[in-house]
Amino acid sequence: MIPGWLARPLPPFPHVSLLYKIRSFGLDYVVLHLGEEGTLYVTRHGWPLLEQLLPAAWYTDQKYASIGRRMSVATGTVYRVPAEAAGKTADLLIKFSRVGQEVPIWIEPSAEAHITQQDIANARFVGPFEEFGLCEEIRQGAFGPPQLHIRTKSPLAIYVPPRRYQPWQLGRQDSDFDMSNNTQAEDPTHLGGAAVHLDMDRDYVLVYGWLHGDDAQVCYSRGEISREEFESLTPMVVAELEAKGFLMLDVKPLHFILRKRHQRRSSRTGEADGDFLRRNGQLVYALIDYELVVRTQPHRRWLQEQLNASLAD
Ligand SMILES: Nc1ncnc2c1ncn2[C@@H]1O[C@H](COP(=O)(O)OP(=O)(O)OP(=O)(O)O)[C@@H](O)[C@H]1O
Ligand SMILES: [Mg+2]
Repeated sequence: MIPGWLARPLPPFPHVSLLYKIRSFGLDYVVLHLGEEGTLYVTRHGWPLLEQLLPAAWYTDQKYASIGRRMSVATGTVYRVPAEAAGKTADLLIKFSRVGQEVPIWIEPSAEAHITQQDIANARFVGPFEEFGLCEEIRQGAFGPPQLHIRTKSPLAIYVPPRRYQPWQLGRQDSDFDMSNNTQAEDPTHLGGAAVHLDMDRDYVLVYGWLHGDDAQVCYSRGEISREEFESLTPMVVAELEAKGFLMLDVKPLHFILRKRHQRRSSRTGEADGDFLRRNGQLVYALIDYELVVRTQPHRRWLQEQLNASLAD
């Protein structure tokens, strides 16, 4: 149920009163306190899908497991869920945040040269609000060559169910979890933002839009892209991300979604047909995982300069 204080029809996101909004890591959210159903933080991307994002459409009674499909290749807890409400279905990708958990590091061989021992030693799963902030930052791409644009998933909402767990049940380590709370104060994009304190004993569920297409690993295993093209993908993404000021520690073909020109489904095979989308001869991809993304040093310096300049104004 949409809370009573929200007018109908729903006002556009910018018109919702600031009383109901917070800004965290540069991204604005409408905060819906849902009583016994927990709290939902909705971004402007998610706002038009509010009915489908409410927990009753995908979470309550573990609906995501009964109507959704678990991503079997994922090491985390990830589901694709068709959330239906008010006569409309939203294709969602939900992911339980691994903030505070130990990071199982495996570096893709073709990315090894770009990742230092220091990067590995400092690796931690980012917090949920930081993850959405990084996703939006990659989408916006303010740093680096303006003509280079990296596609991402749409960050729709963060859901905090009411249930509380024992710390051991969520596998979190105090020091890593605390670090995620502390980064809020230090992050240049977070200045003036609300300190959303993360609870050690609660789940954080990230809700993204599903992207049509398949990951590059699947496309290669079906013989849809050549070996040369497959092998050149990871180095290309690493280079593009670096140019835009990011490093993804778990960069790998499973994290690139390739799109086809016609996403029509063949009635015979159930598979999409048509050629892959390309730009200047290169495969068009969307990047889909941000829990181990960090900014590069030049990007951090640039952000700090922007911040200093805005404070001096
Ligand atoms: N929005 C999306 N659209 C399409 N496919 C997706 C989307 N998000 C995830 N997937 C698919 O689900 C898989 C697992 O997702 P993800 O990498 O986020 O999980 P994970 O728990 O981080 O797994 P791993 O630890 O192996 O990286 C991806 O490799 C991809 O095939
Ligand atoms: Mg992943």
